[in-house]
Amino acid sequence: MKFFADTAEIADIQRLAATGLIDGVTTNPSLINKSGRDFIEVTKEICALTDGPVSAEVIALDHATMMKEANVLRKIAENVCIKVPLTIDGLKTCKALTDEGAMVNVTLCFSAAQALLAAKAGATFVSPFVGRHDDNGFDGMQLIADIRLIYDNYDYNTQILVASVRHAIHILEAAKIGADAITAPPAVIEGLFRHILTEKGIEGFLADWAKTDQSIL
Ligand code: G3P
Repeated sequence: MKFFADTAEIADIQRLAATGLIDGVTTNPSLINKSGRDFIEVTKEICALTDGPVSAEVIALDHATMMKEANVLRKIAENVCIKVPLTIDGLKTCKALTDEGAMVNVTLCFSAAQALLAAKAGATFVSPFVGRHDDNGFDGMQLIADIRLIYDNYDYNTQILVASVRHAIHILEAAKIGADAITAPPAVIEGLFRHILTEKGIEGFLADWAKTDQSIL
């Protein structure tokens, strides 16, 4: 399963990239706004921090302008992945860009029907928003399971990139279903490492090691 950091904060990306466990980064207009940074500049910096795909989202709603914006974003770095919304114009743009060999992440997906269209449009990734689905009383993980079934039925290459991840259970359930990737805030990813029994176990080992009065170095 690929892990993407869902942030535009350089320090967080640097910290996670140092673990060697991050496969890419996703941003969106809200995350860029939160960073307070210039979109092109921060995206360039992020692209240099990972070899994996870095999702950068177009703002336009019409196909022609999306294509113009995508051409600007693609010039930033080889690993830029163009993010487009799941709309008719977004999927027209997805088809045109993937036909040109560009990576495309189709975002704001909230139904299996939308995900089916994203696959038909040749999307590299589709981003179903499980957290926002859950927030509105729908079953976010059932959406992922439905998309997984449909994609496997037709052997679609589009990768399911579970987004709007709120906690570790979203990640675990996505892995059990067989999603290809998740994108999560750094705090959620870092929370996966922690377990109280691991911390207690280390404490106990160190206390007993101290009694041996030995050192390895
Ligand atoms: O990548 C999409 C993600 O940033 C949306 O998350 O928490 O705003 O639903 P959220």
